[in-house]
Amino acid sequence: MNESEILRIKQRFGIIGNSPLLNHALEVAIQVAPTDMTVLITGESGSGKESFSKIIHQLSARKHGAFIAVNCGAIPEGTIDSELFGHEKGSFTGAHDARKGYFEVTNKGTIFLDEIAELPLSTQARLLRVLEVGEFIKVGSSKVQKTDVRVVAATNVSLEDAVHKGKFREDLYYRLNTVPIFVPPLRQRGSDIELLFRKFASDFSEKYKTKPLKLSHEAIEVLLDFDFPGNIRQLKNIVEQMSVLELEKEISGEVMMKYLPVSRSKHPVLYQGNTEKESISERDLLYKVLFDLKRDVTDLKKLVGDIIESGGDVHPHLIDEHKRLLSENTIGQIKEKEDNDSSLVIDVPARESDTYDEEPIEDISHELEDDDSLSIEKKEKELIIKALRKNNNKRKYAARDLGISERTLYRKIKQYDV
Ligand SMILES: Nc1ncnc2c1ncn2[C@@H]1O[C@H](COP(=O)(O)OP(=O)(O)O)[C@@H](O)[C@H]1O
Ligand SMILES: [Mg+2]
Repeated sequence: MNESEILRIKQRFGIIGNSPLLNHALEVAIQVAPTDMTVLITGESGSGKESFSKIIHQLSARKHGAFIAVNCGAIPEGTIDSELFGHEKGSFTGAHDARKGYFEVTNKGTIFLDEIAELPLSTQARLLRVLEVGEFIKVGSSKVQKTDVRVVAATNVSLEDAVHKGKFREDLYYRLNTVPIFVPPLRQRGSDIELLFRKFASDFSEKYKTKPLKLSHEAIEVLLDFDFPGNIRQLKNIVEQMSVLELEKEISGEVMMKYLPVSRSKHPVLYQGNTEKESISERDLLYKVLFDLKRDVTDLKKLVGDIIESGGDVHPHLIDEHKRLLSENTIGQIKEKEDNDSSLVIDVPARESDTYDEEPIEDISHELEDDDSLSIEKKEKELIIKALRKNNNKRKYAARDLGISERTLYRKIKQYDV
């Protein structure tokens, strides 16, 4: 597809941005629009899914027909069948009149089913029938009706997961997923953030009759580092607030930070101030990453060495060895060493819970032989001393700060002679 065509579409629909992921999503949308295929748009909340559904409708032969956006998550379970497919008079308490559903009134048009994962299973069955044979039955009726509606669905949760959990029909999932379009989150669009900021700043300066905001270099850095869980919708809201509240229009990094919740930085630790506790856990994390890396590199070196030694042939025993190395890295198979074993031991960080606290220990002493590893050991010793000092030598709390088990800490204290 040529670039100027994409550019034209962007201008027509007010789509800002030029990141490869966005362009790819647009290309797919433009290609699939004129067909009558069902489309499933995935992407986080606020990333622009609804905009895509409008593009698909407008670029299709149905553009003169109706377009309805339905938020499946916002309609109560008890009335959703009736909303979508209509009902007969007296079919339930309060149904004083017959009512047409969206699938009837959008005949020859497009229906956008947002948050499709929220549909109750019974409604999913009705939807599948419309998609497969173009037929539906009103609530309280027995008459089969025909309709010709194109469905564009969207979800911000994984439908595959929903299928696994038994909350979403597998057949419907496959039926919807014929053409998937992934709308990337803002944090994956690189400098599009800046373009969007400028566009919104200019829009709101017109709306509020103020001078447009300008970004300093630091402010751009801060923007790029933020993970924007609410995506473009969130960015837009922030720019609107700033346009009204900030009288100094040249935005510094500091001012920018005021509008972005600290905990949602892509690298939260770097922004967490400098209290003892935080600096400990941050370092701890870094050292763990270093150790893991070191171990992987050693494994690789060994493997490559073995292959060279064997004259470049990959013998079956090397493949076994490789598998063994790989499996050693999995938490469940790591065996605890004896207490009198003075080797350096490392806990695999248990993220969700402390379930692994007692077992995930691995002997890597044989791999840490050169100078840089010694300095890592030195750092680890320092870290342990620091954690102990901070917690008045209470090992339990020091271990928790370090993210390792008490037993491991005990061993390390002995090992380093702390
Ligand atoms: N690429 C874009 N350029 C400019 N504005 C956008 C872009 N994508 C989305 N928006 C705007 O962001 C807001 C959220 O988009 P929306 O399509 O409602 O997101 P979603 O349906 O994924 O939650 C809307 O105001 C929309 O106009
Ligand atoms: Mg939406």
